[in-house]
Amino acid sequence: MKQDTLIVTAGRDPEANHGVVNPPVYHASTILFPTVAALEASQSHRLDRDTTYYGRFGTPTTFAFQNAVAELDGGHRAIAFASGKCATLVALMAFLKSGDHLLMVDSAYAPTRALCDGLLSRFGIITTYYDPLIGTEIGELIRPETRIIFTESPGSQTFEIQDISAITDTGHAQGCTVLMDNTWATSLFFRPFDHGVDVVIQAATKYIVGHSDAMLGVITTTESAFESVQRAALDFGAPPGPDDIYLGQRGLRTLRVRLDRHMETGLTIAKWLKAQNQVARVLHPGIPDDPGHSLWLRDFQGASGLFGVVLKKATKAALAAMLDGMKLFKMGYSWGGYESLIIPTYPGKQRTATTWDPPGPALRIHAGLEDPDDLISDLKHGLARLDLASRR
Ligand SMILES: Cc1ncc(COP(=O)(O)O)c(C=O)c1O
Repeated sequence: MKQDTLIVTAGRDPEANHGVVNPPVYHASTILFPTVAALEASQSHRLDRDTTYYGRFGTPTTFAFQNAVAELDGGHRAIAFASGKCATLVALMAFLKSGDHLLMVDSAYAPTRALCDGLLSRFGIITTYYDPLIGTEIGELIRPETRIIFTESPGSQTFEIQDISAITDTGHAQGCTVLMDNTWATSLFFRPFDHGVDVVIQAATKYIVGHSDAMLGVITTTESAFESVQRAALDFGAPPGPDDIYLGQRGLRTLRVRLDRHMETGLTIAKWLKAQNQVARVLHPGIPDDPGHSLWLRDFQGASGLFGVVLKKATKAALAAMLDGMKLFKMGYSWGGYESLIIPTYPGKQRTATTWDPPGPALRIHAGLEDPDDLISDLKHGLARLDLASRR
């Protein structure tokens, strides 16, 4: 079946729910067993795809979501978590132990870096950051104790596209497991397993939920990586709440139509911004002269609605005049919902392996589902306010 059909059908079982199309919301901690034999039997299949004997291991809503995501991603199995960050931590801890070395992309989501520099470092795990534009040269950074190469493409805030196939080929040849945060593209726009990735992490909070109203993470793995991730997931014991997992499986059903629209509007706005004289650079791999464009064309099936803009020199007050007055682009961090967002970003603060020295302030834009003409008009007025405040 094609992905667009899977997105509608995968993980559904109306017959198990009185014909109701969507799985119900199960609020459950205690699962009852009628006999000692059933109680004991539950232990032996507690790690099955669709059974539970304790609320922490999931409910039928969790299984519906996990099975749908695994099928859609083309992975072996998926496990859901209380947040994307939690999924990232579990994926890392599944493979690392004290004394191990980790290669982390320099453009990673900042809280992922914080995990490496904080918690993992306290447990004796050493991180080396690498240039997102690295390809097979990643091999030169691999040490005997390197276990994990962590990728995220495009990079958070700066949107560099990584050569994932080159990294997985080189990493596997030297015994590393390759993880990828695929939140930006989802498996509709990038297929990590086709590029050799072992473990795929998604902050389902973003596009899968799609309506800015739930926290959810998910890990999908190859067959060989699954056991380690499952063990770590059981150790962490951080399943999503019942309403959030419900909203995740519901959001998934409309992911295709929403993402296509986010892409279209994102590209329209990015191209418009590129032509404005206040703009120094647009950071969007779908724009032909973006440095990541050819890799994006080679590997991706689309672009989501999140991208960056670098303005020419502007004061803090001028930037505030622009942003404070926006009517449709609101300021907020968690993206991927139906609404447009804009925030200033400071990528330079987080870099260690590469430098980031833009001429002026950087912005991160999320193109929502509003009419693109209205969004462009909002930005046009914003840039006019920036100009006016700059002249004061
Ligand atoms: C790329 C990326 N990965 C992971 C996360 C973390 O997800 P969550 O907010 O669900 O913890 C985010 C959140 O912004 C993100 O942008």
